[in-house]
Amino acid sequence: MTAPLIAADNITFRYRPGNLALDGASLAIPAGSRVALVGPNGAGKSTLFLHINAILRPLAGELRYQGRPYRYGGDFLSALRQKVGLVFQDPDTQLFAGNVLDDVVFGPMNLGLAAGEAVRRAEAALDAVGMLEHRGSPVHFLSQGQKKRVAIAGVLAMEPDALVMDEPTAALDYPGLTSLKDTLAMLHAAGKTLVVATHDVDWAWTWADIVYVLAGGKTVAAGPPAEILARPDHAALGFARPVLAELSAALGKEGAFPGDAAPRTCAELLALLRKK
Ligand SMILES: Nc1ncnc2c1ncn2[C@@H]1O[C@H](COP(=O)(O)OP(=O)(O)OP(=O)(O)O)[C@@H](O)[C@H]1O
Ligand SMILES: [Mg+2]
Repeated sequence: MTAPLIAADNITFRYRPGNLALDGASLAIPAGSRVALVGPNGAGKSTLFLHINAILRPLAGELRYQGRPYRYGGDFLSALRQKVGLVFQDPDTQLFAGNVLDDVVFGPMNLGLAAGEAVRRAEAALDAVGMLEHRGSPVHFLSQGQKKRVAIAGVLAMEPDALVMDEPTAALDYPGLTSLKDTLAMLHAAGKTLVVATHDVDWAWTWADIVYVLAGGKTVAAGPPAEILARPDHAALGFARPVLAELSAALGKEGAFPGDAAPRTCAELLALLRKK
């Protein structure tokens, strides 16, 4: 069996004494998969992502990339961060340059690419998130959603193998959401590994291959969305059931179609209703 692209085993971490932010969190992310991490505020999702990118180092437990344990020294870290791009939850933590293009071009320039190629990549990334026309704008003039788009572009421009995005849909408007989803579909088709933390369970329901639930710093459930997100004990785990899961459970109870069916799109739901 091949090792997952990224694995985290029993990670423990505390920011301050007496309070474990992670208390035995585990993840296995197969190459090319779409993974969604859900769970309530304070569950440890962002903290786990900071471990995946080796910004934080666990107190106990181990992380591995392609089966190789993380090392917290220079060469390993720079190679890891080229392969695994992290979009922070708060774009103000990510963006630092004066203007949009300078910010996005910084990563590719740092990879040692020629200036022309670095700018080409940065512009393509800005185009993908619908921010090319803002390339010359000062970052501090942007709205929160625009900053989020630029932060995503900064990671896209690095062309990593895996994109780890902390609440990528938060603050995005409908056009922003549409272009993000199109970009993710294109990246998935190109074989990239995509990991998100999200409170948008309806999106996770249709999009993810694997869902992890984090609560109290622990991984409390993992599996396909139909198995995890439709669970009757979802409230105790800190997430809402997706609308389609709720609707299907109600229709199943009414005998409208098999009670255990889990349509992931409206089209699948309609097909089940028509079959009956
Ligand atoms: N910089 C920090 N310093 C101290 N404690 C922190 C810090 N960041 C997070 N924590 C604590 O660690 C725990 C996990 O927080 P984390 O931000 O990882 O949760 P989350 O699942 O990402 O939540 P959210 O859904 O709100 O983004 C919380 O108890 C939080 O208070
Ligand atoms: Mg978070």
